[in-house]
Amino acid sequence: MAEIRVASSAGFCFGVRRAVDLAVQALVDFGNPVYTLGPIIHNPQEVNRLREKGLLMAESLIEIESGTVVIRSHGAPRGIIETAARRGLGVVDATCPLVKRLEEKVRELGETGLQVIIVGESDHPEVKAALSYAAGRCLVWRGPEDIDPGQMEPSVGIVAQTTQSLENLQLVVSGCVPFCREVHVFNTVCEATRKRVAEALALAREVDLMIVVGGKNSGNTKRLAEAVRRTGTPTCHIESSRELREVSIPKGASVGVTAGASTPSWVIQDVVAVLESV
Ligand code: F3S
Repeated sequence: MAEIRVASSAGFCFGVRRAVDLAVQALVDFGNPVYTLGPIIHNPQEVNRLREKGLLMAESLIEIESGTVVIRSHGAPRGIIETAARRGLGVVDATCPLVKRLEEKVRELGETGLQVIIVGESDHPEVKAALSYAAGRCLVWRGPEDIDPGQMEPSVGIVAQTTQSLENLQLVVSGCVPFCREVHVFNTVCEATRKRVAEALALAREVDLMIVVGGKNSGNTKRLAEAVRRTGTPTCHIESSRELREVSIPKGASVGVTAGASTPSWVIQDVVAVLESV
């Protein structure tokens, strides 16, 4: 049998846990219909489980005629909460407090006249929401490879999507310094993410194989798997235990398990149970 070691930080972060709990509580407190704007978390298994409990999903407010709207942990573009309330919908704001801090920072920086640069993925809902708080021209760069001095103003304020790595933020900052008169940096990287990655890397260096569990649509899980893979330890990113059938686990191998912030504990436990039976 393989030796299985599970990272203690694997699974839901406090922001995701809080959002899921608030959504479930909204079903109890307000009754149907309760909607989330977009999937409550980037994990299809958990989204299905919550749908069975009655949690509905809409892509925009236009689709919702009545009931309650839950703003997920990624936040929502500025004005959405006000619009929902004006239309008589109930609103439960489950935006993670750390995402709120990023949105506030983007707003403040814009108001002081700095050009805002967000280090992150422009198509991620958290970044789309944060962008809506920028007063002026705002840039989104994935990393140092996107730095374009032609687009930059002399004074910039730099923040990061909460689930970015600190290293990526640092690389963008040092790449910008030569082209600016003023660079204001705010570390908006989430500590839970930083800890999760550090622990996964340490574990990867001690085992023969790493399994990263989480939605294939989850940005933080994908980045976690990429970081783990870069250690050189063979790494598999799976969504559920069913995919373990395709993973070859040598007899007596040590296997490390970690999971993204949006992976529920029951999915992780299921993976561990199957691994233990190998
Ligand atoms: Fe919040 Fe960090 Fe989770 S920003 S949603 S606690 S990954």
